[in-house]
This record gives sequence, structure tokens and C-alpha cells, in this order.
Amino acid sequence: MQYDFSSNEYSPEQKAYAARVYNILRETKSETPLAAVVTFGCQQNVSDSQRIRGMLSLMGYEFTEDLSKADFIIFNTCAVREHAEDRVFGNVGAVKKYKRQRKGMIIAVCGCMAQQEHVSRRFKESYPYVDMVFGTGVTHRLPEFVYKKLTGTKRIFENELNNDPVIEGIPVNRDDVFKGFVPVMYGCDNFCTYCIVPYVRGRERSRKPQEIIKEVTDMVNSGYKEIMLLGQNVNSYGKGLDEDINFAKLLRMVNDIPGDFRIRFMTSHPKDCTEELLLAMRDSKKVERHLHLPVQAGSDRILKIMNRRYTAEKYLSLIEKARSLMPDITFTSDIIVGFPGETYEDFKQTIELVKKVRYSSLFTFIYSPRKGTPAAEMPDPVTREEKGRWFSELLAVQDKIQKEKEEENIGKTVRVLCEEYDDGILSGKASNMAQISFAGEKDFIGSFKNVKITSYDHGLKGEITE
Ligand code: SAH
Ligand code: SF4
Ligand code: F3S
Repeated sequence: MQYDFSSNEYSPEQKAYAARVYNILRETKSETPLAAVVTFGCQQNVSDSQRIRGMLSLMGYEFTEDLSKADFIIFNTCAVREHAEDRVFGNVGAVKKYKRQRKGMIIAVCGCMAQQEHVSRRFKESYPYVDMVFGTGVTHRLPEFVYKKLTGTKRIFENELNNDPVIEGIPVNRDDVFKGFVPVMYGCDNFCTYCIVPYVRGRERSRKPQEIIKEVTDMVNSGYKEIMLLGQNVNSYGKGLDEDINFAKLLRMVNDIPGDFRIRFMTSHPKDCTEELLLAMRDSKKVERHLHLPVQAGSDRILKIMNRRYTAEKYLSLIEKARSLMPDITFTSDIIVGFPGETYEDFKQTIELVKKVRYSSLFTFIYSPRKGTPAAEMPDPVTREEKGRWFSELLAVQDKIQKEKEEENIGKTVRVLCEEYDDGILSGKASNMAQISFAGEKDFIGSFKNVKITSYDHGLKGEITE
């Protein structure tokens, strides 16, 4: 278990609540109190859950994955698509029986879903055994909420959207010991018309560069080998800060931190992906040769209604520019199929774009209407079945490209961070995100090895070279 404290101190008020909770739990329980943190959604949520665990540690909780044994269960939720929300309702419904069996169990729901008023109301009305529901704006007040619950408040509902500067100093309890997330900014100001994120995460707020540098330096000094810089749109990093900084400059600063580690980042919005950023990537040897650049659609008409603020041509010229600066770079992307009003002709342009870019991997989604977003009000005449057929067509095109892209790696020798081990076989990723498996020892996990890629058989295979 790894704890990090940044240079700024976490709210003294919340620390005092945490200390009071600690004492109450010690006085009222003979065994160590256990908490379970269940996370849905993107890396941002995974990162937030590491801070939730940090706060729970301060309060004296230890952790379990067995929900039936937990004294405190918290669901950190995602609202990006209907399917994500349905899973949360299902999972929260399933713990009702544990609460009956375990006296004093507290159930909490937080994160992006909980930030929405209509969802908070649904928990209030239909899930009486849920004790607290609070949104992303007040996560740092968890110690206060637990204290209030333990001292008699029946139920707590908070979904004020907080656009204040980032709260620093919350202890982080990471899961991995060799790769870790470092948020650089929170929120999103882009308001793509399909997307709920700006409504549930609030306005863009950047962390101060010195906070980020300190966190990464501490991680590298304690052995971390891969740092993932996180934000809904890292390319707008720095807006609103007093310092003369942007994401390209931050990347160079992180690259200058001494140590053998590598740097990844996501997500980059194509409209803000500048030549300055590509040059910073090229010059920064620790930054991976991979760019996640979500395109969403290939039709200019659809991109415009999505409010993405770039054209397919502009996007393709970015890809070309990046390839001319870094010939070995690979790209991944997110694509939405069946945006309201999208026709088969529009969709075909997405296929054309995918064929031109040749992504090494794609995250594809069927459009899901989100209450409160402009797209949810737009006419959407194409049936789900039809969208499903388009979706399969896209997957078939991508599968073929992906296999060919993987095979292009055969014969190369690459530096791999060993991540997993099973029965004599290690696996990990190269700098271009290619996933490779090879024979090796369990002890190699968390270290870099040079691997020669020898073949492709349901994935790339290789062998360690000196
Ligand atoms: N900030 C990131 C990621 C946002 S959410 C970005 O801008 O790329 C991750 C992905 O979910 C999006 O890129 C988009 O492809 C998808 N997504 C968002 N809203 C959606 C919706 N309503 N229906 C289907 N997919 C959606
Ligand atoms: Fe959503 Fe667009 Fe912001 Fe990404 S950039 S989080 S897709 S609004
Ligand atoms: Fe989901 Fe919130 Fe991330 S809606 S995708 S967890 S920012």
C-alpha cells in the first residue's frame, strides 16, 4: 500500500472529521472496520477512488473486496452511457441483502451519476437503504459525511457542483506499485452535444504545475515506472493558472524529472492538439509513442452538430503531422456510432477515416441519449438494430486493420514494461502500446525489458534479449 501527501495540506476541517470518525470507530467496534470501494467509469474515476481510499484510510478503515463483510460500501459511479448507469443501479440493488445481515453497514453512492439531480432523487425515493449520495464536487468532504452519519444524521444528499480550485493534499492510496495515475486537470468546458461529463464534473480546473511535479517526483522516487497524466482534455491544461504554462510545457517538465520511467497522457481533444504539443512529445524521450486522439465521427456535418470544432480534414492533417515528426507513433480513438440524425452516408465517412488513419485500437460506442444534453433533444430516427449493423461493420473493418498493425511489429526489438505474470509468461506494453507476451520470471514485474517480437498468434509473442 502506498501513501502520498502533496505539498499542500488537505483541509484541516476534514482531517479533524476523519480523526473523530477514527475515534468513534475504535470505541464502538472491536474489529478493524472494513471498507469496499467499487469503481465504475474512466481513469478519472479510478484516480478519484484512490483518493477516496486515502480518506477512508485516514478514518481508520482497512479494505475488503468482499462486499458482504464491509462496514462501509461506496460506489463511485459513471454516467457517460445508459448502460453504465444501469450497471450501477443493479450493483447497488444487490447489496441491500448484506445491509440486513450486517448491523451498522453504511452504503454510499458518489461520482458522476450522483452529481445529477434526477439520479440523486431516484436514490432518495427508491433506495431507502442508501445512506449517502454525493456528487463529484464534494468528494473531499467524505470524512464529514461519514462523521455525520455515525453521529445520527439519517441520510445525506449533496450534489452541489463545485468549481473551486482543486483541493490538494488528499492522501492517495494507489492499487499498483509501478504504474499510477496523476490528474493534471479536472472538469471539462467543451460541451460536446452528446456528453454528460461537463454537467457532472464542472468547469475545467488545472492543478498547479508544482503539485504535479512533486507528485510525479515522489512516485518515481518510490519506484513507479509508468505515469499516466489524466484529464478530460489535457490539452487545455493551464488555463486560469497564474503560471505561464500549458500542457506541452508541463510534459517537458515531467520529462525532465530524473529517473527511468515513462509518461502517458489522456485525453487529448483534437481541436487543442497543437504542433507545440507534438514537438514536446517528440523531444521528450520518456513520453510514449502513442496518442489517444478521439475523433468521434468522420462526417463534417456530424462533427459540427456534435460541437467538436474540427473537420475530418483538419483531424487527418494532425495525424499526418504527428507521423512526420514521430514515424513510429500509433493512434487510438473513440468513435460514436448512430449520433442523432447520422445517416449511413455519414457513417461511411467514419469508416473511410478509420481506414485512412489505421488506428492500433478503437473504443467504439453506440450513441446513448443523456438527459440534459442538447443531443438528447435531437430527432433520432435510425433504429437501434440499424445502428447495431453499422457498429458491426465498423468493428469488422477495425479488426482487420488492427491485426495488420500488430503484425507490423514483428521483427522489432522494443522496451516493454512487464505488467502481468501467469505460469512462466509475462506480458506488457511497448512504448507504442503494442501488447506483447514472452517467457520470463515473476520478479520482472514492474521492470523494463528489451523484447524481440517474433510472431503473432492471438496477440504478439516475443523473447527477452540482452
Ligand atoms: N474527455 C474524453 C472522454 C470522454 S468520455 C474525450 O473528450 O475524449 C469517453 C468517450 O465516451 C467519448 O470519447 C465518447 O466517444 C463516448 N461517449 C460520451 N458520451 C457518449 C454518449 N452519450 N453516447 C455514447 N458514447 C458516448
Ligand atoms: Fe465530453 Fe467532449 Fe468534454 Fe470529452 S471533450 S468530456 S467528449 S464534452
Ligand atoms: Fe464516466 Fe464520469 Fe468518467 S461520466 S466516463 S466516470 S468522467
